[in-house]
Amino acid sequence: MATASIQPFNEKAALVWSSGGYGYEIIAQQCLPGIVHAVDRLDPRPGEQVIDVGTGTGRAAREVAARGARSTGVDIAEGMLTAARAQTAQQGIDLRLAAAEALPFEDAAFDKAISTFGVMFSVQPHVAASELARVLRPGGRLAVTAWTPDSNAVLMRQELAPFAPPPPDPAPPAPWAWGTGKGLQEYLGADFDFEFETGVLHLRYPDANAFWHTFVDVFGPVKAVADSLDTDRREELAAALRRWADGFRSNCGVSIPCDYVLTVAHRK
Ligand SMILES: C[S@@+](CC[C@H](N)C(=O)[O-])C[C@H]1O[C@@H](n2cnc3c(N)ncnc32)[C@H](O)[C@@H]1O
Repeated sequence: MATASIQPFNEKAALVWSSGGYGYEIIAQQCLPGIVHAVDRLDPRPGEQVIDVGTGTGRAAREVAARGARSTGVDIAEGMLTAARAQTAQQGIDLRLAAAEALPFEDAAFDKAISTFGVMFSVQPHVAASELARVLRPGGRLAVTAWTPDSNAVLMRQELAPFAPPPPDPAPPAPWAWGTGKGLQEYLGADFDFEFETGVLHLRYPDANAFWHTFVDVFGPVKAVADSLDTDRREELAAALRRWADGFRSNCGVSIPCDYVLTVAHRK
């Protein structure tokens, strides 16, 4: 069992995700169909102990608690947890500052685990996967959602890349590996039997400008890059993301379909 501290390799990510703060709840709300999909497949039952890894503003942890299970959420980003605490005050959810790679819980402490677009961002996915296996009891169930490599949620980040600092060398494994059979086998194959199915959720905005303003205000990875730019370059980023979002214009506004994979795994 690890102590709850944020390791140096997670410090930058913790700051980036924290910067979204309360506002991230807007994005979590738009991702709700994928979150509810994962909770449905997890099937939390009254009295079960369930951990939500990378809980963010606590959206999945709240869905779990609403179904009567005892819900625990962990995240590396204090800014997200502050928002989660405000949202979950009435539900008795245990929220902790902790990383997927060092979960501060005893072996087999949980009946079920969930991670919605969370553990996929671990830069040490093998370690995170073995921590999930360690804290689940034998026969315990895990539900994970992750964007597929060709998901628009990933392609949006490709628009961001030319404006971002160069990635570390060597680069961490691509988060989208959690959205492929090969990556899932690599991470989960030793300790879990698993199946997966696909899903799609839609990010909807009145127009491309509203998309830009939401993401630059509340989505840490976009906000952090935008905040690092001078005024001209920031306007170029805004133009690039507006142009990209405008490609998803419908009769009623902008509607961006984002494909994901939902994995249901059983602890061997
Ligand atoms: C895209 S948000 C998803 C939040 C939430 N699960 C949801 O569905 O709304 C990703 C979350 O994972 C957290 N995260 C990233 N890397 C993590 C790690 N190594 N350990 C724990 N949490 C992590 C971030 O701080 C962030 O809150």
